[in-house]
Amino acid sequence: MRFAPEDEALRGSIARARAENVPTIQISPLQGKLLQVLALACGARAILEIGTLAGYSGVWLARGLPPDGRLISLEVNPRHAELARATFAEAGVSDRAEVRVGPALDLLPTLVPEAPFDLIFIDADKMNYERYLDWAVTLSRTGSLIVADNVIRGGRAFQTPPPDESAAGAAAYTRKILAHPRLVSVAFLNDEDFNDVEDGFAISVVTSAGQ
Ligand code: SAH
Ligand code: DHB
Ligand code: MG
Repeated sequence: MRFAPEDEALRGSIARARAENVPTIQISPLQGKLLQVLALACGARAILEIGTLAGYSGVWLARGLPPDGRLISLEVNPRHAELARATFAEAGVSDRAEVRVGPALDLLPTLVPEAPFDLIFIDADKMNYERYLDWAVTLSRTGSLIVADNVIRGGRAFQTPPPDESAAGAAAYTRKILAHPRLVSVAFLNDEDFNDVEDGFAISVVTSAGQ
């Protein structure tokens, strides 16, 4: 018995990345299944992802949407975007999953007319996580979920001072969700088997202020 078996499309996403020498730094199958469960649990119809890579997490998210739902995934690297589009086609979710290419901080302001998003998944460059959080809250509504990968970085995010920019970005993110008046948050450790790094997955729910 397995909770998060991968089908051809999910395996294909990883295989395509490997074949193109793109790093296979996608979330784990259980994280993917959790994203699908969260999307279904909050009745998500509009999902935003920041950091597409080859579409692995995007497939799990799209599988948490109804047929007329929508996933917008932001990706700076056009090669990654192409791999993700092939993955979405193979998974049969191209009708609801779209990749937009550019630096996320340039694209996020253009999404205001398409907000609110019911679930926002943050998984791009770690040093901008705080800014992505600000945008995620702006583009959300009360009851939206904001999820972030890589908030622990093998413990480096909890060292003072954090030893590198990505650990510092992850630490700033965690500090901000814990202090935020509208967010109620939890995180758990994930054992990333591709590089043996224990990393964190943070889940926040957006509440009305003062709850
Ligand atoms: N969510 C993916 C993994 C994402 S890896 C999965 O689990 O399947 C991080 C991705 O963020 C990479 O593809 C990288 O190119 C992209 N990225 C890095 N900086 C970015 C930026 N400023 N804007 C948008 N995407 C960015
Ligand atoms: C890296 C990025 C990720 O999103 C991840 O889950 C693991 C590693 C990285 O940029 O090295
Ligand atoms: Mg990640």
